[in-house]
Amino acid sequence: MTDPADFPALEPVGETSFLRHWAQLDAVVRLAPRVDQGGSLLCWSAGCATGEEPYSLAMVLREAGRTGDRIIATDTAEERLALARAARYGDWTLRRVDAARRLRWFRRHGEEWELLPALRDAVEFRRHDLAAEPPPWTFDVVLCRNVLIYFNPGQARRAAAALLEAVRPGGLLVLGPVELPAAEGLPVEWVEQDGATVLRRTG
Ligand SMILES: C[S@@+](CC[C@H](N)C(=O)[O-])C[C@H]1O[C@@H](n2cnc3c(N)ncnc32)[C@H](O)[C@@H]1O
Repeated sequence: MTDPADFPALEPVGETSFLRHWAQLDAVVRLAPRVDQGGSLLCWSAGCATGEEPYSLAMVLREAGRTGDRIIATDTAEERLALARAARYGDWTLRRVDAARRLRWFRRHGEEWELLPALRDAVEFRRHDLAAEPPPWTFDVVLCRNVLIYFNPGQARRAAAALLEAVRPGGLLVLGPVELPAAEGLPVEWVEQDGATVLRRTG
C-alpha cells in the first residue's frame, strides 16, 4: 500500500476572499505578542494568492487602532501577485465586507472596488516558494491558510515545521482549520478563541 506521505501534491488554485475565517483574524489582533503594549507587528501571509488575506489582516489591525504593523505577503504565482499589487476587486470576493467597510477602505472604480493606500501601503508582495526556500525573515505572526491542503502529508508537516521556525517565540502560526493536523507534535500551544484555533510558539 502507498504511504500517504508519498501521494502527489494537488495543483493549487487561487481561491480566496476578504475576511475569510474572520475569527482567526480577530484572534490575531487579540493574541499576537506585545499587542497590549502597543508594539508593532511584522506579519507574513504565505500563499497570499491575489492579496485578500494580507489586506484583510491589515484591515482588522487598522480597525483595532494599530497603525505601525507591516505585512509581507508571498506566493509562487507571479500573475496572482500582480493582481494583488493592483488591488482592484469585484463584489464576489468582497461579499463579507459590509457597506461601511467598503466606504472606509475602498473607492469605486467602474465595476470594481480599489483598495485605498491606507491598507495597500501596509503590505509588501514578493515571490517566494514555501516548499523550496527558507522563510524570508522571522515574524510575530505567520498566516498560511489553505495552502498546505495542496501538499501531500509529508510535505505539509515539513512546511508547517519550517513556517514555525519563522515565528518568534511567543508569536503565532495560523493555519487553515483543516490544516492543523500538520502541526501535530510541534512546540506550540493550541489556543482557542471564539471557535478559531491559532498556534502560539513555545519552543
Ligand atoms: C487557495 S489559495 C489560499 C489563499 C489565502 N491564503 C486564503 O486562505 O484565502 C492557495 C495559494 O497558495 C499558493 N501556493 C501553493 N503552493 C505554494 C508554495 N509552495 N509556495 C507559496 N505559495 C504557494 C498558490 O499559488 C495559491 O495562490
